[in-house]
Amino acid sequence: MQIELRILRFDPEKDQKPHEQTYTVEAGPMDRVLDLLHKVKYEQDGTLTFRRSCAHGVCGSDAMLINGRNRLACKIRVDQLKARRITVAPLPGLPVMKDLVVDMEAFFAKFRSVQPYLQADSLDPDRERLQSQAERAVFDDTTKCILCAACTTSCPSFWAQPSYVGPAAIVNAHRFIFDSRDDHADDRLTILADRDGVWRCRTIFNCTDACPRGIHITQAILEVSSRIVEHQA
Ligand code: SF4
Ligand code: F3S
Ligand code: FES
Repeated sequence: MQIELRILRFDPEKDQKPHEQTYTVEAGPMDRVLDLLHKVKYEQDGTLTFRRSCAHGVCGSDAMLINGRNRLACKIRVDQLKARRITVAPLPGLPVMKDLVVDMEAFFAKFRSVQPYLQADSLDPDRERLQSQAERAVFDDTTKCILCAACTTSCPSFWAQPSYVGPAAIVNAHRFIFDSRDDHADDRLTILADRDGVWRCRTIFNCTDACPRGIHITQAILEVSSRIVEHQA
């Protein structure tokens, strides 16, 4: 079948503002949007610019706005979109560098701000730090994040207030706050109790809908908020 692919293009060296460009590509129902972008780039217009690496939903580099929703181009198939016309635009709310490539630096700075690494104060044990299956299960969901930014850039609270730390950073804080081997949960709770922390979440659920890993993001945010309330009591 023929698909009309409408891509929002922007070249900072030539364009004052983004503009839509339309391409017609031949596609099968099992083709993914990433396959269509490759067809355009390799067969029609080599200037089209986008990020991708693994092509299998692992690296998180090709999140973009596809038919109005944040999706990984390598995971969403033509048959799932149920349309012969597909629009593709860069992730909302981040500065566009070129075409579908956005500047992720502010996003990663927020990720780093929540100390997303294990901090154990006890001396290094001779063997691994033990943890029961039940203790591991508490944060299993939030270990799955691939830092694609689909959640944070789909959040109206983030659009309204870009200083909001955002759901991706909170998910990654959750992963360590609830890790029984970590001793610095309180530091992260203090960081997230800030005015740009968890309280900016209005439980809108766009983040949960956008997450390609199926992480229960809103639930994780509420678990962190509850822990902050306990921490402050
Ligand atoms: Fe992407 Fe999900 Fe991680 Fe957000 S929580 S950055 S949507 S993988
Ligand atoms: Fe935003 Fe998700 Fe909260 S969309 S408002 S972070 S539930
Ligand atoms: Fe790696 Fe899509 S290219 S997640």
